[in-house]
Amino acid sequence: METLECINTRRSIRKFKSEAVSHETIDSIITAASMAPSWKNTQITRYHIIEAPDLLNEIADHCVLGFEHNRELIKGAPQLVVVSMIEKRCGYEKDGSFTTSKEDRWEMFDAGIASQTFCLAAHDLGVGTVILGIFDEDQVAKAIALPEGQKVAALIAMGYPDQECQAPKRKTVEELVQYL
Ligand SMILES: Cc1cc2nc3c(=O)[nH]c(=O)nc-3n(C[C@H](O)[C@H](O)[C@H](O)COP(=O)(O)O)c2cc1C
Repeated sequence: METLECINTRRSIRKFKSEAVSHETIDSIITAASMAPSWKNTQITRYHIIEAPDLLNEIADHCVLGFEHNRELIKGAPQLVVVSMIEKRCGYEKDGSFTTSKEDRWEMFDAGIASQTFCLAAHDLGVGTVILGIFDEDQVAKAIALPEGQKVAALIAMGYPDQECQAPKRKTVEELVQYL
């Protein structure tokens, strides 16, 4: 698939077939995501693939701040990616001070770029994804026993699409751009 076609046709997928995505395909997606740019090439983003039904149900039932839409969505996905970030590298100087006034917010910036790269690579391979932001990060970290020194950035539900979606309306270029 051409790059622009991939960008333009990727949609958030919220209904999935029951078939799981193979580890080989997931590894290919993560190989592509590893090519995303990052702060001083720190590469702080990590991917935890949740596919054990008990753990998927635990996250759906107890970690989405009671948001029923995300609960049902996760229960209907064969796999869920917990995207995490290694702390205290991205945005930092070697002495532990922040490099810029954005302080550690570059961590989320890098995890966001990596997540979108993940979703685009998945789409290219026929795999549907949706990024989920409504969850309790501490509860997710506890549920998957996230190692010390990492924090949760986002969830991505993943599987083969069982729906066709139209793109929600986008702003016009005129609304988005300013040439100075
Ligand atoms: C940071 C972020 C958080 C999101 N959180 C959720 C969510 O909790 N639940 C959900 O169904 N979709 C969520 N989405 C998906 C957006 O609703 C979706 O990207 C947007 O409506 C545009 O649709 P498209 O991805 O098909 O282009 C999130 C997307 C982003 C980038």
